[in-house]
Amino acid sequence: MEYSLSNKVFALVAFLLLCFNCKNETKPEATEKKEKPELIMHKPSEMANLMNGMYAYNLQIKQQIINGETPVSIPLDLIKLHSAEMSNGHARTAIWNSKVQNFIESQQSVVDTLSNVELKERYNAAINNCLACHKTECTGPIPKIRKLLIK
Ligand code: HEC
Repeated sequence: MEYSLSNKVFALVAFLLLCFNCKNETKPEATEKKEKPELIMHKPSEMANLMNGMYAYNLQIKQQIINGETPVSIPLDLIKLHSAEMSNGHARTAIWNSKVQNFIESQQSVVDTLSNVELKERYNAAINNCLACHKTECTGPIPKIRKLLIK
């Protein structure tokens, strides 16, 4: 009894968090305040951590590119996109599977110092591939990801 109730509460909280992460970025406060704080402090998924790492990395190389520097390495294991555990409600859908490889290749091409394609163009292509997947798989962070594009 106790156990299944707390499971339900956990599922509800996970669901609310999910809405926060992927859909409702602008209005989470009102609903969250009513929940028990110790329950909403659960760990972000391995995939969410990887995504946040990808965001931070691209923010950093965006600045380098604007400064005229050439990023030469990726300190992230993008292959983990194929295995990282996702938060409740997310899965490797057919759309995910059709987008992930293009993204990995375009992100890797940003640090391909032998490429003939302009650096800014390769960088924006990688960010557009983030957006291509997010359009259906996780819409909440889209405004934030869009700001990574170099004008
Ligand atoms: C192939 C699909 C796909 C690609 C490509 C992709 N994402 Fe994601 N992203 C997702 C999914 C699905 C989630 C939700 C993961 C979860 O909650 O476990 C997510 C979550 C996120 C989050 C929210 C993390 C959190 O704290 O909940 C951010 C920020 C993010 N992605 C940024 C990016 C950036 C930046 C890129 C490109 C550099 C990118 N994503 C590429 C599918 C993708």
